[in-house]
Amino acid sequence: MGFRYHILLTLSTTLSCLISIHAQQLPTVAGAPAFAKVGNYFYVHSGTVYADSLVNQFIALDLTIPWKTAEPAWKFLPPGPYNAYHTAGYSADNSTFYTFGRDTGASANVLPPYWLNSYNIKTQTWTSSNPPQVNDTSRRDFTLLEEMLALQGI
Ligand SMILES: *[C@@H]1O[C@H](CO)[C@@H](O)[C@H](O)[C@H]1NC(C)=O
Ligand SMILES: *[C@@H]1O[C@H](CO)[C@@H](O)[C@H](O)[C@H]1NC(C)=O
Repeated sequence: MGFRYHILLTLSTTLSCLISIHAQQLPTVAGAPAFAKVGNYFYVHSGTVYADSLVNQFIALDLTIPWKTAEPAWKFLPPGPYNAYHTAGYSADNSTFYTFGRDTGASANVLPPYWLNSYNIKTQTWTSSNPPQVNDTSRRDFTLLEEMLALQGI
């Protein structure tokens, strides 16, 4: 938990600095996103501007191309479900970005309906499910993820 908050805070601070001056479309600055480096891209999904006020955005940065600090070259991708306080991962073949968990504290109109959300990087499409191993889909912690992967023998 402590580690997770540390990385989230670090990311929030970094994002605030990176996008302080910018001419093109800007991401909304949000805390508690899910993020992962997959292949050569850094992906950041959703998050919250305050408490459970969720942001519906999904952005990616190509790490192979230099960018100016004032103009990070964020690409805007199909946003998928609103979410926050969730966790990201990716498939071993770098083809899929996953998010685990859902912000069950969010209001009904933005409450993510599913616990596992998968983004196919090639087709740019999201799919969602509640894995049968997750019998308490209000949970969003690493421990549950480890339990689930252990059940699947991963
Ligand atoms: C996935 O991306 C990483 C770079 O982040 C690379 O080192 C690795 O070889 C890639 N894996 C596959 C299966 O393409
Ligand atoms: C989830 O299922 C396991 C195994 O059936 C059970 O022991 C556990 O109490 C369940 N947890 C919840 C929150 O339903």
